[in-house]
Amino acid sequence: MNAPLTEQFQTLQEIVAAARSNLAPGPWSYLIGGAETETTVRRNRMALDSLAFRPRVLRDVSRIDSSSLFLRQKVRLPVLLAPIGGLESIVEGGAASAARAAAQFGVPQMLSSVCQPGLEQTAAAADTVRVFQLYVRGDDAWTDDWVRRAKDNGYRAFCFTVDVAAYSRRERDIVGRFVKPWRARAIEGAVFQAGLSWDQVKRYKDKHDLPLIIKGIATVEDAEIAVQHGVEVIYVSNHGGRQLDHGLGSTAVLPEILKAVKDKAEVWVDGGYMRGSDVVKAIALGAKAVGLGRLTGLGLGAAGVPGLVRTLELLEDEIRICLGLLGVTSYAELTPAHLVAAPPANAPDTFSAFPLLTRL
Ligand SMILES: Cc1cc2nc3c(=O)[nH]c(=O)nc-3n(C[C@H](O)[C@H](O)[C@H](O)COP(=O)(O)O)c2cc1C
Repeated sequence: MNAPLTEQFQTLQEIVAAARSNLAPGPWSYLIGGAETETTVRRNRMALDSLAFRPRVLRDVSRIDSSSLFLRQKVRLPVLLAPIGGLESIVEGGAASAARAAAQFGVPQMLSSVCQPGLEQTAAAADTVRVFQLYVRGDDAWTDDWVRRAKDNGYRAFCFTVDVAAYSRRERDIVGRFVKPWRARAIEGAVFQAGLSWDQVKRYKDKHDLPLIIKGIATVEDAEIAVQHGVEVIYVSNHGGRQLDHGLGSTAVLPEILKAVKDKAEVWVDGGYMRGSDVVKAIALGAKAVGLGRLTGLGLGAAGVPGLVRTLELLEDEIRICLGLLGVTSYAELTPAHLVAAPPANAPDTFSAFPLLTRL
């Protein structure tokens, strides 16, 4: 019999190593890879690795609250499972497995419209806090129908991902000749996504009352326009470095966006977040939630639903230790003064958060 997961996975490094050995080369490259030179992927890590902590001591941290609010719902950590298309190539059950893990542990899930088993079945799989992300592949009436279905199935917010006006060249997939089983379906109608403009955002806000998330904001200018349109959540992201190559790390652009947005919208962020300390850094800067992309896939790849639950448990341990060592008992006490710029100690890349990997 296999050892219990708490025994088998005592660190996130072991989770990553297990996913590496379980996943076939195609799905592994798809999960890990980025666009072209993967410079944006490395800059995501660089931005996190370039922040050091300024710990405060002697502050009674015997009780720590690491829970948070997500769209006014209490959740166990200030994180969400970021939308991942084609998750069914990484884990049996695809998005339904992610939903089960999210519900079991107590964090929200954002479902991608290009992930099986789809909107209704994923909602039916588990009672979790859920939001829905759409790739636009049809006209306004087509989009309205997705909004209605999302609402009918208990999704609490609707998201347009806007950093996908063109599909990038993911060279690991191309070189490996990995043919994504869902690609033909995903590409059909892509011209509608390319044709999106702020007009559709305005139209959505005029017509629908489900809160709107815009995912893929990477500049202060666009964050300001989103605020003017009454968007509820500005999700700072470069798609994990999978779309535009040679962008800045998302954590590097986060402070100026937070400064401009103030409390006129919630700001979420993702890109390179692999560790509890990474999550704490984003919250200290002022983000309300952190999206986990590849880490979600790695947890599921390591051991399915229980593997992702274990990943989240380890992340929670790390977050609680980090908060205690910073001298705070809740996120409300964290401020940018807990951070300072510092040169990265390692060459940043997707795995610089896991230095033992080569030795495992
Ligand atoms: C395999 C994979 C598939 C993804 N599919 C989608 C998607 O369908 N929709 C979307 O908005 N973002 C998608 N993303 C981007 C993630 O939602 C998230 O922005 C990104 O992964 C965050 O970076 P991280 O992987 O370094 O955590 C995908 C990411 C990965 C790794």
